[in-house]
Formats: sequence, C-alpha cells, structure tokens
Amino acid sequence: MKALIWCAPRMVKVDDVPDPQIINPHDAIVRVTSTAICGSDLHLYDGYIPFMKPGDIMGHEPMGIVEEVGPDVDQGRIKKGDRVVVPFPIACGKCFFCKRELYSCCDNTNPKPHFGEQMLGQATAGIFGYSHLTGGYAGGQAEMLRVPFADVNLQKMPREFTDEQLLFLSDIFPTGYMAVEHCGVKPDDTVAIWGCGPVGQFAIRSAFLLGAGQVIAIDDASTVPERLQMARDAGATTIDFHDEFVYERLMDLTGGIGPDICVDAVGMEAHGYSADYYMDRAKVLMMMETDRPHVIRQAINCCRKGGTVSIAGVYGGVGDKIPIGALMNKGLTIKTGQTHVHHYVPQLLDHIRKGDIDPSFVVTHRIPLRDAPRGYDMFVHKTDGCIKVVLDPAA
Ligand SMILES: NC(=O)c1ccc[n+]([C@@H]2O[C@H](COP(=O)([O-])OP(=O)(O)OC[C@H]3O[C@@H](n4cnc5c(N)ncnc54)[C@H](O)[C@@H]3O)[C@@H](O)[C@H]2O)c1
Ligand SMILES: [Zn+2]
Ligand SMILES: [Zn+2]
Repeated sequence: MKALIWCAPRMVKVDDVPDPQIINPHDAIVRVTSTAICGSDLHLYDGYIPFMKPGDIMGHEPMGIVEEVGPDVDQGRIKKGDRVVVPFPIACGKCFFCKRELYSCCDNTNPKPHFGEQMLGQATAGIFGYSHLTGGYAGGQAEMLRVPFADVNLQKMPREFTDEQLLFLSDIFPTGYMAVEHCGVKPDDTVAIWGCGPVGQFAIRSAFLLGAGQVIAIDDASTVPERLQMARDAGATTIDFHDEFVYERLMDLTGGIGPDICVDAVGMEAHGYSADYYMDRAKVLMMMETDRPHVIRQAINCCRKGGTVSIAGVYGGVGDKIPIGALMNKGLTIKTGQTHVHHYVPQLLDHIRKGDIDPSFVVTHRIPLRDAPRGYDMFVHKTDGCIKVVLDPAA
C-alpha cells in the first residue's frame, strides 16, 4: 500500500510499504477514506520529537471502512463494512486509566514504555504515527491502518454525513472541546485562546457551545490573517499579537481583571516578538531547552486571579522561566493533557447530529495522499490560506 513516511526533519515522502496485518486477535484493519495533517505532526516534521526513525508512517487523524476484524473483536460492536473514526490515542478499555476514561493515559497500549518512563516519569498511551515515545505504531496517513483493541478504539459513524463532517472527531474537535470543557466554563466566562490553527478554531466554537460569554482569539495577522478571520466568523473578538499588546488588550476586554480561562492552542513551537521568545530560540539551538513555552508564560501572566490555564498545545520536554510565582500567588489552576478522545466522541457526534456545528468549516484543502508532502509544506509555511489539509488515499 501507499503511505506517508518520515525520512528526516522536513523530509517526508509517499512510498510503497507492506500492507498491515492482523497480528493480535483484538485488531482490525481499516481502509482509510480520509486522513488529516495535524499541528502535532508538524512537531515530528520539524524534528522536535527525537523519537522518529526513517520509514515511520505518520498520521493520527484517520477514518474509513473496516476491512477485516480479528477473531476476538466483539462483532456486536465492530464488524467488517462499518464506517469508523479512529481516535488518536490507543486505549485498551480495561486498565486503571481507561476505567476512569483517561484514555490517553492507558497503561497497556504503549509497547515501548521505557522512553516515556525516562522522559516523563511514566509512559503515556500508544498513539498512531507519533514516534517511538508513544509506541512506534504505524500511522493513518496511509491507505490502510491496523487498529489494536478495535472494539474499544473504533468509533462507529452514521452514513448521513460527509467524511469532513466526522473526521475531526479523531482529534481536533475533542481536543478543542476538552481544552475548554475541563476548565469548568461558566456562563458569561471570558475564554481567551492563543492560536487560531485547527485546534484553536475548535476551542473557539466549543467555548460558545459550552456557554462562554466572551471568546477572545489571539494569533498573528501578519502571517495568518485568514485564521483570525475564521475566528471572527465564529463570533470571537481577535487580537493580533504582531501589532497589538496581548496583555493590555486582554485587560481592556475584561474590565481589568483578565480572562477566566486561558487556552494555549499553540504548543512548543510558539512564535513571538518579545525577549523571552528570542531567548527560547537561542536556548533550543544550544540544546539548553527543548520547547518554547512563550504562550504558557503569557497565559499565566494574563489569567485572572483564581482562573484556569488550559494547555492543549503539545510540549515534549523542558521549558524555562515558567512564572511559577504568578501561578502560585494568583491561585491558578492548570488543566492539560493529550485528549481523552473516546470520552468526548458520543457527545460531540450528538452536537453534529443536532446541527450545532459542522466541523467541515475548517477544511481548506483536500488533496490526494500522494501529494501529502506538498500538504505538509503548505501547512507548515501557512501558504495558500492553508488551515486544515485532508488527504484522500483513493484519489
Ligand atoms: N492535547 C492534544 O491532545 C492535542 C491534540 C491535537 C493537537 N494538539 C496541539 O495543539 C497545537 C495546535 O495545533 P494546530 O493543529 O492548531 O496547529 P497549527 O500549527 O496549525 O496552529 C498553531 C497556531 O498558533 C499560532 N501561534 C504561534 N505563536 C503564537 C503566539 N505566541 N500567540 C498566539 N498564537 C500563536 C500560529 O500562528 C498558528 O496559527 C499543537 O501544539 C498541537 O500539537 C494537541
Ligand atoms: Zn492531531
Ligand atoms: Zn487502558
């Protein structure tokens, strides 16, 4: 089959690889009909996660049709021919963490826990196409995908929606939603969201779905004006961090107290125009720091006393000069995590069914899988108004 493989930082290609096989009795094989490129893939593409090997298949936002199931898959739940979305974290459904619906913390699906134990204290769940830190699983930017614990992981989908309306249940819709929901948003809260990429866009719409009074979206109009426009289209007030002072604008918009909830939908590759950002760049180059936590610093500084900072953006290692004094003295709460996708799929599918949201709004490009390297190039450089790229293996 054809698949998108990682070769080296900023070098990916579509190549022939062996078809996936059922190797455990709970596996299923899915024929992929649509699969997306995520901001998280860019951290691998850019070489920020040092656990990739040449030949690894990337991708963790796929959906498709079940082609084959192993002998122990509960056919009352999943059978050949079903239309399914595949959540990016791989869960066993039975461990301590899965029982508490903390699916991205599953203790049974990462076959290479030693990396996580060294780096993080404990290993996380396996994740499709997301380096050997998360198990070294083949990813979903491919014609076919092997899915372990198929009756736990495959999420059955109705036929009456298009792929683009359902695909983002695999990751970015639950991610944007959880980023706001687990902060316990109350009516009339102000939610400020850093980053208007696909995750930020879903966080903005989720904040409104959850009843926020005011949503403020922050990004750079000199590089991604179309993302700020998409945020305004959803009803958000926008701040352009290229031309405006984020702290001053946020105080103006909140009667001087700061937002109740501050969401980082940017992650380890944040940009900026301030001294701390240039320090981060230099330190990362000198290997004195792995991540650029510019947005975390700003969010902690801006958040109102007693408020919540929600980190949806991915971080991989260590970041310096986190303002721990502001965090403690203002009594802030931090919420974060790889998304527990399975927990959110039923309620978000319900929102789609009721017409509260049509997730296809975020798609700017649908291109053949064979053109995936061009998709990566467009997405990383944010050219051609690129916000979200969907790859079509059949085209
Ligand atoms: N927690 C999870 O489970 C989960 C799931 C999916 C994605 N993510 C992460 O979410 C983050 C966003 O993903 P995406 O697909 O939207 O990526 P993206 O790269 O398309 O979007 C990031 C946006 O942040 C903006 N940005 C950069 N610096 C900024 C700053 N200082 N202030 C405000 N905006 C800034 C960029 O201009 C860009 O528009 C990534 O780190 C990704 O890895 C996390
Ligand atoms: Zn993703
Ligand atoms: Zn588990």
